Amino acid sequence: MEFLHISDLHYRIQYPAAETGYLLIFKDMLPPLEQLKKGLAKVCLDKLSFILISGDLTEYGDEQDYRELKRQLDQAFGRIPYVVTLGNHDNLNAFCSVWAPGDDVRYGSVSHFGKVMVIVWAPGDDVRYGSVSHFGKVMVIALNNSSEHHPDGMITKEHCLWLETCLNEKAKAGDQAKAAEQVILMMHHPLITDPGKSMPAVQYPPCFTRLIKRYPIAAILSGHTHDRLSGTFNGVLFATAGSMSFKGYEMADRTVCFREYASMNLCRIEDQYISIREIPVTADGKILGTIRMPQSVR
Ligand SMILES: [Fe+2]
Repeated sequence: MEFLHISDLHYRIQYPAAETGYLLIFKDMLPPLEQLKKGLAKVCLDKLSFILISGDLTEYGDEQDYRELKRQLDQAFGRIPYVVTLGNHDNLNAFCSVWAPGDDVRYGSVSHFGKVMVIVWAPGDDVRYGSVSHFGKVMVIALNNSSEHHPDGMITKEHCLWLETCLNEKAKAGDQAKAAEQVILMMHHPLITDPGKSMPAVQYPPCFTRLIKRYPIAAILSGHTHDRLSGTFNGVLFATAGSMSFKGYEMADRTVCFREYASMNLCRIEDQYISIREIPVTADGKILGTIRMPQSVR
């Protein structure tokens, strides 16, 4: 079974005009959906069972942006089902108005879209979102670890309760098909750091580590880094996908040079093994701008 992992589109129908600062990088950037088309042309779509998109779907887009993005993704992917999660550049309310229309996200809901079941669960003031999808022998849990108040993401005890509910569902007695599924956990903010970069990992409570150790999870996939990063998290395979937009290069003078950049991961599951191969799309894109950054904007 093969699937594609892409991330960080930062899509807008039209980016806000700017002559200075971070928004300047979008002025001449190749549109993310053009990058996506270039990438999809490099893989055999007939072999793909599903596609994962690990957040930053838009660049602080509004409802119209999400509607157009979904229309374009539906068209680009055709019969291939896809699962999305949110990143720190996403707009939860605008997203929900398009991806989960009619739901009151404050109180939680469950929706079914073809093969995808979306669960919106919000026990507190913050809206939390996750989804569970089943594709043959694979269960995908998309955990929304983005947070309006934490730009580097946040996994709370409530996230862990929700995650444990999902993992327990798989282990329910009598459902052998579910019990045999491989679990892929997708989230936007990464669990490990790149030693050469200043980007921090997402914060999580001790109960999250206990969950990862207690339940069999085949791989944890994330975005946010706009670069390839791989390793293990408590013995579980961990990998990020590059972006469909840009990449930031940290310079010695504490500035960040942004370049056009696109890359995605082709993942293959064979028995108990998962292999991940990078598909470069735009490896040496043009320079978009150099900016002094007070904090991460990835
Ligand atoms: Fe991003």
